[in-house]
Amino acid sequence: MIRPIRLFGDPVLRTPAEPVTDFDLELRNLVRDLTETMVDAPGVGLAAPQIGVSLRVFTYHVGEEPGHLINPVLGLDGEQEEDDEACLSLPGLVFPTPRAPRVVATGFNMYGDPVTIEGSELLARCVQHETDHLDGILFIDRLDKKQRKLAMKAIREAEWNGEPAPEVKVSPHATQRIS
Ligand code: NI
Repeated sequence: MIRPIRLFGDPVLRTPAEPVTDFDLELRNLVRDLTETMVDAPGVGLAAPQIGVSLRVFTYHVGEEPGHLINPVLGLDGEQEEDDEACLSLPGLVFPTPRAPRVVATGFNMYGDPVTIEGSELLARCVQHETDHLDGILFIDRLDKKQRKLAMKAIREAEWNGEPAPEVKVSPHATQRIS
């Protein structure tokens, strides 16, 4: 199922996500929804908080088939390099963002098997960006002072800024934001 993508300003994007403990059907449904939403966007990565689920799960799609990683732990290597970066939760913003050029990410797949992802260039950048989401960090937080100022200005001027988060019905009598 394609889910609405949460935008900057939604508190779920600033909340550190919880580690996954149950590798169950619900988790596999989450990975499926994340993958479908990412491919539909389209995006090269999507983290669970971006669809309102505060769990340490992200998907990525850099070449070949989409993949996912759960409870990631990153090892970074090399001098940081700047390249343009964007985020589905900040539509229209593109800014040069410093990232390590190489990453080794360990974690689990949706069945609970240990996995390792080694990446450079776009995959390394994507893995760092998505893992940041799980810590409540957005790419604009990584910008230098001048670029960050420009980013904040772009946010203030963005047409999506101030839009209410999607409401989800939890019972016939009440509505509540999931975050
Ligand atoms: Ni993002």
